[in-house]
Amino acid sequence: MSVHSSASVKRITTHTLQEMKHRGEKISMLTAYDYSMAKIVDAAGMDIILVGDSASNVMAGHETTLPITLDQMIYHASAVVRAVKRSFVVVDIPFGSYQGNSSEALRSAIRIMKESGAHSVKVEGGSEIKESVVRILSAGVPVMGHLGLTPQSIYKFGTYTVRAKEEAEANKLLEDAKMLEACGCFALVLEKIPAALAKKVAESVSIPVIGIGAGPDVDGQVLVMHDMLGITQEFKPRFLRQYADLQKTMMEAFQNYISDVKNRDFPNQSESY
Ligand code: KIV
Repeated sequence: MSVHSSASVKRITTHTLQEMKHRGEKISMLTAYDYSMAKIVDAAGMDIILVGDSASNVMAGHETTLPITLDQMIYHASAVVRAVKRSFVVVDIPFGSYQGNSSEALRSAIRIMKESGAHSVKVEGGSEIKESVVRILSAGVPVMGHLGLTPQSIYKFGTYTVRAKEEAEANKLLEDAKMLEACGCFALVLEKIPAALAKKVAESVSIPVIGIGAGPDVDGQVLVMHDMLGITQEFKPRFLRQYADLQKTMMEAFQNYISDVKNRDFPNQSESY
């Protein structure tokens, strides 16, 4: 049962998130990709639900986020939006749907907003995608930026190690953050960068900065649902806190069911008509 009855629900907006930063109230953000899970996440009181292109990994089994398509992101996003009463829903624009030119970026963002009913979009990168960011914002679509480790550029980086350890890259990241704020982005994600740099960015911009592997001194935190629930067991970076061991719980449930079927224990008389 939802802890928020529809009558009393006050939806989270970009304005709410901005106020939270000013009050110093931390912002909670988690990924979700389907109706049933999003319903639980929303009812739990999550501030932001990210329909991440990590769906490419955890839902579709791809090695990277690159293969997921705009149509697939819209499918996941519309399922999530149908479940949500309170959380603010952000959707990743997938690789290849905004980097080419700003008209394509705008078309992709509009498709996501129109066809899924989501509240905003997220894009990876700084100065390289400025034109696309400005064009999407010009249509009144809220944009969340994403700097640091940007998984859509994995083949440029070559590894998933910590980004912006060197001064030149750290300076560029700080400049990109300020540029995204100046363009009108409502928030930023910083992924896998030194905590001191993330703190500096959060202090240098007035929009909320959400971290993943970016230390405690930012305005909020985001994790991938399957990682924090322990459904994916092979991915255990230092920044991940695992809040459950659902792989174990689910494995036991599945094995108990198999055993009950094989032993003719299920269904029993009270489970039959
Ligand atoms: O796709 C995703 O899940 C993300 C988070 C890691 C921030 O972008």
